[in-house]
Amino acid sequence: MSRRAQFLEVLGIPTEWVPRRTAPGLPAAEAVAEVAVTQVLAEELAPIPAVTEFAEPPVAVAETAARPVPVALVPESAPSDREAAIAAMSWAELEAAVSGCTACGLCETRTNTVFGVGDREADWMLVGEAPGENEDKQGEPFVGQAGKLLDNMLASLGLARGRNVFIANVLKCRPPGNRNPEPQEVAECEPHLRRQIALIRPKVIVVLGRFAAQSLLRTTTPIGKLRGTVHTYEGIPVVVTYHPAYLLRTLTDKVRAWEDLCLAREVYDRAGART
Ligand code: URA
Repeated sequence: MSRRAQFLEVLGIPTEWVPRRTAPGLPAAEAVAEVAVTQVLAEELAPIPAVTEFAEPPVAVAETAARPVPVALVPESAPSDREAAIAAMSWAELEAAVSGCTACGLCETRTNTVFGVGDREADWMLVGEAPGENEDKQGEPFVGQAGKLLDNMLASLGLARGRNVFIANVLKCRPPGNRNPEPQEVAECEPHLRRQIALIRPKVIVVLGRFAAQSLLRTTTPIGKLRGTVHTYEGIPVVVTYHPAYLLRTLTDKVRAWEDLCLAREVYDRAGART
């Protein structure tokens, strides 16, 4: 079975495809990505469930909603002493700094910090938003339903958690009730992620979801427009895709996620395997 077929299978997408728009007279160039008829119907007929029906962070559910993301407070200016200190840390120092961090109020409600997991010499880095309830309990990113989907997505690319992949979040502590991260929380936590990326120097970063994408790329551009282009963060190529929690319930965007992963794979292949 091809990787694509495997990927679509784990996502529960039928593999018979027809063009979405086949109206006579429609120029071929305007035909959009292939989408299964059954998918379109399912998408159009399915009732939109309330956010409370989902166990995953609500911010990941509303990928396309126009809520502001706290990028404005992330400093563009000279680094503070704290930022400079974090930027010089070893892995051990960084881990200790994160687990003892009290820079924002999330330290009062967290059970565990969620540092990140995986191969510290990975070519691939995945960046999500923030720990949810399960992650807070277990101290590991993406361990819930969304995490299972993420693992399947990785497998379809021939990758696995911990094998040439490192997974981290923008925030290392859970916002209580999975509320949206606050600007100050992002600003205080960003140096940790920045240092992780600097230590790993991955060949490609895949950013999961609107919040992480807009935070990392310091933009308010909607995720639909950030996808499909290779961005850079500190000179490292960045590919944006949808958050797995969102993909769990959005059939058509699962197909787009596959395209995003193919783009990331292409970027990785172009960069060449690490020697
Ligand atoms: N959602 C995220 O963005 N990160 C996690 O670790 C879990 C859920």
